Amino acid sequence: MIGRLNHVAIVVPDLAKASAIYHDTLGATVSAPLPLPEHGVITVFVELPNTKIELLHPLGEDSPIQRFLERNPDGGMHHLCYEVDDIIAARDRLKAEGARVLGDGEPRTGAHGKPVLFLHPKDFCGTLLEIEQV
Ligand code: CO
Repeated sequence: MIGRLNHVAIVVPDLAKASAIYHDTLGATVSAPLPLPEHGVITVFVELPNTKIELLHPLGEDSPIQRFLERNPDGGMHHLCYEVDDIIAARDRLKAEGARVLGDGEPRTGAHGKPVLFLHPKDFCGTLLEIEQV
């Protein structure tokens, strides 16, 4: 059911420093910081030949990643995003398999303007998963 790895998201305490690590030290192509107020994050996209890395930093008062950063002050891997062809079919299959879909279970528009859902980390090897319809 799942297809390509769309991105790996990493929460970082200092976006400029993280961008420099990916650009200068690792030699990757990085975007300018992009504020996404509706998601409570500011993000830098790192373009790799086969996938993307998203560097995330909290934006605003009730950012969904604020607590993660408090628990992980050096930053850390936040979620993996897998592509699916049909997010409703994927959701229904996952629920039938007993997986917990976060929120109200209805897809939201993600950072790339496409429908996304998040899945409980306890059901997926301790890793928060995002699925994105592409
Ligand atoms: Co994501």
